[in-house]
Amino acid sequence: MAVEYITSRNLADLIYETVRLMNKSMAHHGMRVSYIMAKMLETQGTYEKYEIADYMVLALLHDIGANKTDDVRKPLTFEAKNSTPHSVYGYLFLRYLSPLEEQSKMILYHHMDYSKTKDMDYRYRFELEVLKVAEIMDIWQRSFGAKFDYRIIEKYAGTKFDPKVCQLLAKTVEEHDIFTKIRDNSYKVEYSESLEYILLSDIEKEKYLKMLMYCTGLKEEQMVSETVATIYVCRELGRKLKLSELDKNEVYYAALLHDIGMLAIPRELLDAPRTLSEEEKNLVKTHVDIMEKTLENKLSKEIIRIAAGHHERFDGSGYPRGLKASVMGEKEAILQISEQVVNAMEPKPYREAYTKEEIVDELNNGIISGKYEGIVADTFLKHYDEIMDKAKQKADMALVTHQKLQRNYNQVYSSLS
Ligand SMILES: [Fe+2]
Ligand SMILES: [Fe+2]
Ligand SMILES: [Fe+2]
Repeated sequence: MAVEYITSRNLADLIYETVRLMNKSMAHHGMRVSYIMAKMLETQGTYEKYEIADYMVLALLHDIGANKTDDVRKPLTFEAKNSTPHSVYGYLFLRYLSPLEEQSKMILYHHMDYSKTKDMDYRYRFELEVLKVAEIMDIWQRSFGAKFDYRIIEKYAGTKFDPKVCQLLAKTVEEHDIFTKIRDNSYKVEYSESLEYILLSDIEKEKYLKMLMYCTGLKEEQMVSETVATIYVCRELGRKLKLSELDKNEVYYAALLHDIGMLAIPRELLDAPRTLSEEEKNLVKTHVDIMEKTLENKLSKEIIRIAAGHHERFDGSGYPRGLKASVMGEKEAILQISEQVVNAMEPKPYREAYTKEEIVDELNNGIISGKYEGIVADTFLKHYDEIMDKAKQKADMALVTHQKLQRNYNQVYSSLS
């Protein structure tokens, strides 16, 4: 599937914004590390601009594993005291779920001393050493504040850090004055200019977009399996309703990203084993607006429109806008019904899974009352067993992927410690 719906640059920004939904200060840290790394590679002088931009994306994502393994509100704990969990999880996450498979080991070793990495036979060893220095610089400049002096790194040249990279840092500071720019925030302009050169293939774009969906699993694994199943139901309905290729693709991307706004909702509310209060429910409902704002001006308007309508209903009873039938069409209906039935078929911490009879009743009543679009809902009901059996399998398979990640996590973790 060609991805003409998003430019490389917008996708890089979307990756940043998605990380930011999970934790703002971690995203800022990633951006500064990305900037320092870019300027160091630029000073080195042997990299093409588009290569530098690739490393910038990696740097943006270097701590992503912490969203799974640590309390991201305490960066100094997971970065300085016990850095193995987020390094291992981040490595596996990028290795299996991003186009940065080959570079992913840079994440595994990004807190490891130079004395341990210097003899490694690894294609990206130099870039790894650069990433390490860029990351520690940002941690130090935040912890030392006004007392920060990048030259303290010289004390660790040859033990913790690569002496050549320490020299490269000094040259970078001399040529670009990076820490002054970080202090007064003007670095963002240069960061943005360097990222301008990013050049992603369609396959890379496709993988990154899926990776963004998989980010929801860092918070709650069931969100991934439900999204995978929703995508499947959408695709089957699209096929049976003979949607054009373009329409099917739009529904696919809308389904893929429809719940990424959930990344900004507190974890406690996502898996609460009880009915939420009105206030809490309203907070969860903001995930639609958040998703819309995150995707705005980055992805095609039509895709955003379909995604933003996933909790709307044709009789106006949905949210966030209470839209009615006159302003919605078949594509919104497909996502609404798919999302609804997948949600119902899965058990939740606060209720059991709905039975087939309950789901069918809800849809039939909804067709009569005008809540659900009739043609799409009828098509689904006609093929209920065929679609739902496979949807359940898809959801289970997505969970298996997560279990595999967890198994590999334990294995890599014990081999490191
Ligand atoms: Fe970091
Ligand atoms: Fe880290
Ligand atoms: Fe939702």
